[in-house]
Amino acid sequence: MNEMNRLIIATGNTHKTEEIRKLLGSIFESIEDLQSYPEIGEIGEIGSTFGENAELKAIEVGKLLGNSAIILSDDSGLEVDALNGAPGVRSARFSGKNANDASNRKKLLDELEEIGVHGEFRVARFRCVMVLARGDQTLAVFNGVVEGKIADKEKGESGFGYDSIFIPQGYDKTFAELPSHTKNTISHRANALAAFKTWLLDPDSVK
Ligand code: IMP
Repeated sequence: MNEMNRLIIATGNTHKTEEIRKLLGSIFESIEDLQSYPEIGEIGEIGSTFGENAELKAIEVGKLLGNSAIILSDDSGLEVDALNGAPGVRSARFSGKNANDASNRKKLLDELEEIGVHGEFRVARFRCVMVLARGDQTLAVFNGVVEGKIADKEKGESGFGYDSIFIPQGYDKTFAELPSHTKNTISHRANALAAFKTWLLDPDSVK
């Protein structure tokens, strides 16, 4: 198989991989993630921006896999204006060492409650930076954002992470209440992948 037809997503998060698979359809002959490479293990996110962490993940995996595939990383998270952009790059670890999605959502809702920020003042956005690499070379960087606000309480069952407390702009339901195809049309990840698809057709069009 030509290495450009083989895409490895530099994540162990199967939710991210599922969304990326749906959005890319049959563009690639094969899409795998790090679940297929347990020997690679967790890659430390020591960067101070989404871009730095995305690059770190893509290049680390690229170096380990050589030129046998192209690597796409996804570093993403939630920025809440009333919390000065937190949780930001610390989205996955927001509630501390043993953080999980539920404890992260609870901490976020508790903090907004504590400072008395409600309704329309809960302005937030999901941000996603993807880095495409082959070996130790960065081929391109793709950015995606979706604006919205934080709900007053958790709502909905689908999705993952902060989906049940994020209401995208123009909607009155959280990502976890909306059908997955709606999230996959407007999300930060969908926007970054739209730039990736444009790059695949014409690499000079995306800087
Ligand atoms: P990463 O693995 O460092 O990129 O962690 C991303 C963090 O942001 C995790 O806590 C995710 O749950 C959260 N996150 C990223 N994208 C989404 C999304 O599409 N929905 C909900 N949470 C997300």
